[in-house]
Amino acid sequence: MAEINSEPAEQSIYNRINVLKAFDETKSGVKGLVDSGLSKIPTIFINEEYMLERNNNIHNQKSGSSTNNGGIPIIDLTGVDNDPNLRREIVKKVGEACEKWGFFQIINHGIPVTTLDEMMDGIRRFHEQDKEAKKEFYSRDITRKVYYNSNFDLYLAEATNWRDSLNCVMAPRGPFPQQLPAICRDIFIEYSNKVMKLGHTLLELFSEALGLNRSYLEDIGCGEGLFMIGNYYPPCPEPDLTLGINSHTDCGFFTILLQDQIGGLQVRHQNQWLDVNFIHGALIVNLADMMQLISNDKFISVHHRVLTNTKGPRVSAASFFRTHLPPENASRLYGPIKELISQENPPLYRELLLKTSC
Ligand code: OGA
Ligand code: NI
Repeated sequence: MAEINSEPAEQSIYNRINVLKAFDETKSGVKGLVDSGLSKIPTIFINEEYMLERNNNIHNQKSGSSTNNGGIPIIDLTGVDNDPNLRREIVKKVGEACEKWGFFQIINHGIPVTTLDEMMDGIRRFHEQDKEAKKEFYSRDITRKVYYNSNFDLYLAEATNWRDSLNCVMAPRGPFPQQLPAICRDIFIEYSNKVMKLGHTLLELFSEALGLNRSYLEDIGCGEGLFMIGNYYPPCPEPDLTLGINSHTDCGFFTILLQDQIGGLQVRHQNQWLDVNFIHGALIVNLADMMQLISNDKFISVHHRVLTNTKGPRVSAASFFRTHLPPENASRLYGPIKELISQENPPLYRELLLKTSC
């Protein structure tokens, strides 16, 4: 890959695009780079903002790491379907977590740990298979049901992220089974069915925590779209210079995230980055922008990111609950829920029409 460090600004922007194109055309992602053997990361991955932050932290003696899940709530869903007292407690905890954190972990959520482990294995198998077999899935055509690529925003982002992704539109109108890669087909179908069901339980809990009837969020279409990404973060030779994924918020209603034991996920809370610890068998839930909008800021969509590491690879499965697909979504307006609005609590957002699936 061309080195672009020492060139004048204009020239290096031009070159960056060429380097990005060359990287894209390998159709082998970051994993392909790592497999070719490198001790330094290519310049396109260098994240100046992150380097600056690290530098400042060293000088201020501050550390972003934490133990004990950083205080991020861990909620036990035992009894949610059959014990009204426990359910009331759970709704209360979910409500507090959504208002203060926008992020929590759930245990005893009903998805067997064997399913979770198999899902992690399936994603790993896909990314670690022969690169020629992977290439047929490589695409930036977001109208496809199933596609693999590295950095969905490759040509727009300031710094390229150290990760590859297998993307699947699972609902509505999911892929035909044969469109999914055979190497992880069965577990993707099994996991997505179970995550969809759990997502519906969570929507009930969110509805109740907002003081709405149980089916409210489901009825307005918050459980219709499911977009699933199998992420692969290869080991990185220079983890202080780049990120697995930059700080961002998710754009749909909420996300159910499964991570492996490597760690690296961080959430922004009260001006600090906190580590989200690995808990075997747990799932992470985070609220996304559309939930903040419809709840009129009662629930929050918070920034999070993933650090890289030398020991990896790290694997994760992100399941995004989002609106219906085009063209159906074009007939739906989303704004602050009327029942949550009053004179003291006026709407903070206008109603909006979503042109793409978000
Ligand atoms: C995402 C995301 C975190 C992770 O894909 O939006 O935040 O652990 N992923 O992979
Ligand atoms: Ni995210």
